[in-house]
Formats: sequence, structure tokens, C-alpha cells
Amino acid sequence: MPDKSIESVLQETRIFNPPSAKDVGGPNWLIASLDQYKKMYKESIDHPESFWANIANDFHWFKKWDTVLEWNAPDAKWFSGGTTNVCYNCVDRQVDSGHGNDPAIIWEGEPVSDTGTPTDQRTLTYKDLQTEVSKLANVLKSKGITKGDIVTIYMGMVPELAIAMLACARIGAPHSVIFGGFSAQAIADRVSDAKSKIILTCDGSWRRGKIVPLKKNVDDAIKTMANDSPVEHVLCLGRCHNDISWGKLDCCWKEETEKASADCPCEELESEDMLFLLYTSGSTGKPKGIVHTTAGYMIFTATTAKYTFNLVPHDQGGNQTFWCTADCGWITGHSYIVYGLLPNRVPTLMYEGGPDHPTPARFWQIVDRHKVTQFYTAPTAIRAFMKWGDQHPESADLSSLQVLGTVGEPINPEAWMWYRNKIGRGVCPIVDTYWQTETGGHIITPLPGATPTKPGSCTLPMFGIDAAVCDEAGNVAKENVGGLMTIRKPWPAMLRGVYGDRQRFINTYWSTVSKDGQPYYAAGDNTRRDELGNFWIMGRTDDVINVSGHRLGTMEVESALVSHESVVEAAVVGMPHEIKGTGVAAFITPAPGFEASDELKQALRAHVAKEIGAIAKPDLIRFTGALPKTRSGKIMRRLLRSIAAGDTNITQDMSTLEDLSVVAKLSEKDER
Ligand code: PRX
Repeated sequence: MPDKSIESVLQETRIFNPPSAKDVGGPNWLIASLDQYKKMYKESIDHPESFWANIANDFHWFKKWDTVLEWNAPDAKWFSGGTTNVCYNCVDRQVDSGHGNDPAIIWEGEPVSDTGTPTDQRTLTYKDLQTEVSKLANVLKSKGITKGDIVTIYMGMVPELAIAMLACARIGAPHSVIFGGFSAQAIADRVSDAKSKIILTCDGSWRRGKIVPLKKNVDDAIKTMANDSPVEHVLCLGRCHNDISWGKLDCCWKEETEKASADCPCEELESEDMLFLLYTSGSTGKPKGIVHTTAGYMIFTATTAKYTFNLVPHDQGGNQTFWCTADCGWITGHSYIVYGLLPNRVPTLMYEGGPDHPTPARFWQIVDRHKVTQFYTAPTAIRAFMKWGDQHPESADLSSLQVLGTVGEPINPEAWMWYRNKIGRGVCPIVDTYWQTETGGHIITPLPGATPTKPGSCTLPMFGIDAAVCDEAGNVAKENVGGLMTIRKPWPAMLRGVYGDRQRFINTYWSTVSKDGQPYYAAGDNTRRDELGNFWIMGRTDDVINVSGHRLGTMEVESALVSHESVVEAAVVGMPHEIKGTGVAAFITPAPGFEASDELKQALRAHVAKEIGAIAKPDLIRFTGALPKTRSGKIMRRLLRSIAAGDTNITQDMSTLEDLSVVAKLSEKDER
């Protein structure tokens, strides 16, 4: 995070009370006062089973559940004995209840004409979705995909990406969506771990006027896996019409779906059947596959979307269009573009391209064009908009906006205030939503009509989330004293495991905090609660960094660096970055025969992009003869963080440091 200014500290103490629904031009607030929230929250914690059963009753079940919750820490089973289908609840249910012609997905592609008008736009109704999803589901079946087979999806932000996710859900084949910015090597790692027989991809995707060669990356990934590749089919959608090579595994999306039947009934799935895997970074090793299951995830994401964003379908007085700017390759896209939105029957907007293409006003033009009512983005984007200048949002009519959301990293109060004043007309409530890939949906967040907000705080827990600031013995910290972000009770969308690695699941999440022998969920963030009970997230407890809201393990970047011939040893830490929040700083000991140079830096950046993806490229590289280590050989990361932050006056205890001169050398040479 950028350093705190006095202005920022002052803003943190300001309280903004929720506006009336009329003030933002929206339908009535679903939760309209703090008292109403508190009452409902208490009910959800005291009687979680009846609380969630009441909500679950509003969904479609083939067969009702026998028990709401079976909890044998750390294993939760929600709605055992019940059978349902997420795709049915997202799509078919809306068609069956007479809303088939309502807009479900509103899509805008990146390309624009010479006059700046978008050339590719589509609106899919629930009926369209039902047809498209069913056809694709039949194609998957024709390729031998059945319940339980993991389908890898590596696509750009086109409607077919959402269609692909829903088609998997329809037939009970869990998906593993890989962000389109990841490299061939990253695809290979994930596909091997998931043992996917099929990859769904596009020829390319548009990003700031350039084509990202998705199909080529898939081809390279399959080559990398060589004889160990589990892939039998690659289904490729033509999007950018760039040149691609066509091999014996490849089949054409358009041809296959055109000939497929549009009749594919939803598979009746158990509540705990796996819905998807999503790979995310941790402190150690390769990214881990977080497992989410069917009923609990569906119910929690739809419920959190409804209350956090005040979603009201049009026939109940809401005339809303919801836009989450995330990519479906991240959990935010899974939960708040697709699965949390569609059951609420509010149209969800998908945008394909970059925020500044062809101009930095693009996002605001989209808000204006589609009369977006809820806008959900990341602090890193807000900081970029601030830098690009107020003239861009001022050039568009943003008066349709009702609720503004942020996610992915702490938001600095300056960015919060700018967001509220320049985008939200000084009136729209800001929901700073704190959550993780593992939590499935929002766990700490304001509710727009109920919660007084403070810039920089994610405020109060979501229904059903027994959140606390604890020490390792499960004791709750005093007011304003920092501790570990902990959840003491199970919630419906909690992760059910790390794919294929039970021990890692237990070690990572359930071994840090326990009380009376009962493990609590440890989120891996430091936090505190203020005198009003508001949570303030203070950064990770582990070696995970949040770069532009994207989660990266420092060790992943280190492994990528040391796999280059010029590197003997590498240490990677986060450093403050004006736009990204956290940037990547790499300290490198070059191999004999390699000289520190700008060319080598460029080569190393390119190498990291190849191994992981462009998001992991170091912002700062410093070469050093030796890394600062303790006498027992551990790299002193704390010290490197201070050096990367440009601290001139390092006051840390260095008594265990092996060679003090290393620090002097590292600090003296700024090669930024
Ligand atoms: O450190 C927290 C930060 O992002 C981490 C989760 O990253 P990921 O699983 O990629 O999910 C991001 C989107 C939900 C958290 O452990 N984080 C997320 N939201 C916030 C946040 N930090 C502060 N404030 C937030 N609102």
C-alpha cells in the first residue's frame, strides 16, 4: 500500500451513514438499517441451520436435504441428502417461471469502430443461455465427459466462457477456469494436477487492441506435458480469427455446437458434489486447487450478491444492470459475474477488454451506455482511474449508479473518497468486500442501506460468518489490537479441500488457530476491529502478495527466477506500489559468468512472464553478491521488504544476520 498521509489517517476516522434508497435512485434497501442487519446477523449465528434452510427453500431442489449441516472440523457437509443443480437454478428456473426473455448476460466486446462505438455487443436472455448451455453440454458429453471429469477452461471474457462454466455445472463436470493472462507453463501445471481430458479455449482474446494467443498457449502447454498430458480434446472458439495451428486433438466450437441438440436435462447432483476447482497461490509450492461444491456455494454466493449489492429483479421494482469488472478466471468472476448473479435475475454485464482501450473513459462509457446500477471493481483500477484524470468519468453520465463495490486488496482512503465523490456523485454507498477464493463469497462487507462505512474498513461480517480477531489459542483480541482473521463456525461456501492434498488443506487453514481442540479457519490475513466492531485488514500473515488485486506466492516467483540459467538464488518480496498496491521486488544473486545489467533484467522479466504470466513480472530487480541471511541460513525477508520499500533508516533487529555488510550494499544501490 502507498504510505499513509495525514489526509488518509483523517479520512479513516470519518463515518458515512448509508443514504436513503431514493438518494441513489434505487429500489428500497433490502436491509434498511443497522438494527435490521444486527438482528438478522445474530439469528444467522445463533441458529445457522434454520437461517440457511429458510434461504435454501427459495432454490430449486430435485430432492430436499435431510440435514442442513454436518460439521466435523474441518469437514463441513451442507444440505446432505439433497439433490439440486446450479445451472438449473441460474438458468432453467428463470425460463420455467416465465422470465425466459429477460436479459441474463449483457456483453460488450473490446473492439470499437473509428467513431468509438463498440462493434461487438450481445445480450443473451435466459432462454438463449438455456439453448447455448445445453448444446455445449451435449458437445462435452459427446467427447466422453461425464460427471466428475474436470474440464479446463482457458478463454477470454466472451459470453461463451460463462456458457462453458454453466455447461459443466449442468452435467456435473467440475470446471477449472484458468485466467487468460497465465502462461503455457501455468496451464500445464494446472491441467496436469486436475488431469483434465479436455480444454476449452479461444483462438485469441482482445486486450488493449492486441491479441492474446490463447490457443497457442494451450498448444505449448500440451507440448510441455508431452507424454504425461491427460488432454484428449481441445475445443476452440473462433474469436479474433488470428492464425492458429490445428492438430489432431482440436475441434471447432462452432461446428460442434451447431450440430448438437439443444435438449440436455440438468443432472441431478448431490449437494456436496464438486462444482469447480480454482487454482490459487499460497506460501509454498505450486498453486493449489481450491475445491467448491454445489449447494452451499450456490446459496451463499446468491445470498451475498443479493444483500451486498441490493439486487432486485425488474418485476419487483429494480431496473438494474450489475457490472463486475473482474475476469472469470478469478473467484470474483465466478461468484459475482456468474453464479451469484443469475439466480437473482438481475442482468450481469461482461466486458472483454482493457479499461483504457481505446480511451481511459471506456469503463465510464460502458456504465453510461448500459445504465449500470451496481459497479464492482478493484482498488488498483480505482487508483489508475485517479491517475488518468477526472475528465474521463466527467465525460459520461454516471447517474444510473446505485452501489459501488471494491474487492481484492485493502483500499486506501484517498482512493475510497475519490470513488465515492467522482464515480458515486458523493452519495453512492461503497461496499468494501473482504473475502477470498477459499471463502467462496463475501465474508466481511458493508450492506449498502444499513452499514455506516469508514474509508479503508471492510466493516462488519456477512450473515453466517462468525468472524473474529484471534490469537493462536483462539482468544479474541481486544479492541484495536491486531491479530489473525479467523472464522469460528462453518459457512455454506467454505472451501471443502485442496484438490488432491488433504494435508495441505489442514496445514494451511486449520492448524494455526484452535480453541479447546477445535480448529478455527485462519484466513491468512492480519486484522483488527475498531470500537464500532469494524474490521480493518492489515495484510497477509504469509508469503502471499496481492499485486493489482491478483494473488501471487512469492515462492512461485522465486522458483520461476531460479529456473533461469543466470540465477543462483532469488528472494522475492512485496513492495509498496502507487497503482498496484503491492509490486514485486526481486533480489537476485547472479550465476558465475553473468553480469548485472539492464539486458539481464529484461530477460528475467520475460522469463517470469513465460513461466507464470505477465502479472508476476518483477517491478524491481536488484542484483546482489549475497542475500541477507540469518546464521541458520534463512533469508531475512523482513529486511528485504524494508529495503524494497526504500527505507533509509532500517531499525530492525539484525543480530542474527550472518554478514552485516550485505545490508549496506543492498541499501546503497537503488536500481529501480
Ligand atoms: O489478503 C486478502 C485480500 O485478497 C486475499 C484473497 O485473494 P483471492 O483469493 O485472490 O481473492 C480475491 C478476491 C476475493 C485476502 O486474503 N483481500 C481481498 N479482498 C480484500 C482484501 N484485502 C483487503 N480488503 C479487501 N476488501
